Amino acid sequence: MDRSFEDILLAQDFGKEEIKVLLAAEGPRMKELLRRAREVKFRYLDNYVHLRGLIEYGNVCEKNCLYCGLRSGNGKVERYLLSDEDVLSCARLAHELGYGSVALQSGERSDPAFVDHIAQLVREIKKIDGGSLGITLSLGEQSEETYRSWFEAGAHRYLLRIESSSEELYYKIHPKNDKHSFRKRVECLEMLKSIGYQTGTGVMVGLPFQTLDQLADDLLFFKRMDVAMVGLGPYIPHPDTPLYRFRDQVPPADARMDMTLKMIAVLRLMMPEINMVAATANQTVDPQGREKAIAAGANVIMPNLTPGEYRESYFIYPDKACVKDRPDQCKSCLDIRLAAIGHQILYNEWGDSLAFTKKTR
Ligand code: 5AD
Ligand code: SF4
Ligand code: FES
Repeated sequence: MDRSFEDILLAQDFGKEEIKVLLAAEGPRMKELLRRAREVKFRYLDNYVHLRGLIEYGNVCEKNCLYCGLRSGNGKVERYLLSDEDVLSCARLAHELGYGSVALQSGERSDPAFVDHIAQLVREIKKIDGGSLGITLSLGEQSEETYRSWFEAGAHRYLLRIESSSEELYYKIHPKNDKHSFRKRVECLEMLKSIGYQTGTGVMVGLPFQTLDQLADDLLFFKRMDVAMVGLGPYIPHPDTPLYRFRDQVPPADARMDMTLKMIAVLRLMMPEINMVAATANQTVDPQGREKAIAAGANVIMPNLTPGEYRESYFIYPDKACVKDRPDQCKSCLDIRLAAIGHQILYNEWGDSLAFTKKTR
């Protein structure tokens, strides 16, 4: 016999059809789902939020993803690369603010100079206060050797979104060539895991052509891959990208927000101990988007530390939050916003994924 909505909520071992029932919840049912997810999060992870100071290292990208403003085909972007001194002063600032971890992100590059440079930067960041900062990298698809060299340099977490776990949808939002291979991306995730990274992935929610069925499969993909971290957020149409042409097929902002929250909530029930990011893109579709994501089950926020003059060039999607705010302003802003929803920031800790640390203990 089919389980009732209430029974599904209490179960946590969902089949695909049940996931779809949860993702389709609206009104009081949706509220009940989010409430349940928060309760489960509090039970496993308490009311802590971990911060990763985000350093947007550079916006040069070899890829040409059809949705992203940094794609190589977009001639309108002024390309930059931070100096070593800029990166290190961001990292020192993260440490001073008590963030505990930094995340180094950039467009995808695989030339040897870049690869070596990252290893060097990771080693330098590790020297700050005797290795007190945790380091997450988000630098795209790389060779096993490269991933290994960065791990040996001291990085211990890696984020590589699958963007969509549906191969069919993947090829609708990426050019069809060797540079954008779905299989390669999955292989990269496997490599990262086997090297020993806390590995994270994620998807965009509200893409044109995306179905409820595919979103349910995304959650099952995270579970099957047994990842330690997930970052998922709403897709935001960017006018200087090819996918913009299909913007009339993108659900309205409030629907993308709601679906993102339901995805987070259902995943929190399925994987109670993973780290989940409240993506900055949430803030673009809803002024309270990040807090809502935290309240629905996320437990990580990535406040931006990129020096002011470069922020507007890291133009992945329009209307990014906090582009004009200073790091110390974001810090007190987050303290207040999170306290208002019964959460607190855990300062001066790496904030590793419990799902991961339990496995490796
Ligand atoms: N809207 C929302 N997220 C986007 N990303 C890229 N382009 C967009 C967009 N238009 C996300 C992708 C990528 C990360 C760097 O930014 O998921 O992994
Ligand atoms: Fe490059 Fe990443 Fe943007 Fe794709 S999503 S174009 S890989 S920065
Ligand atoms: Fe940046 Fe609120 S978090 S201003």
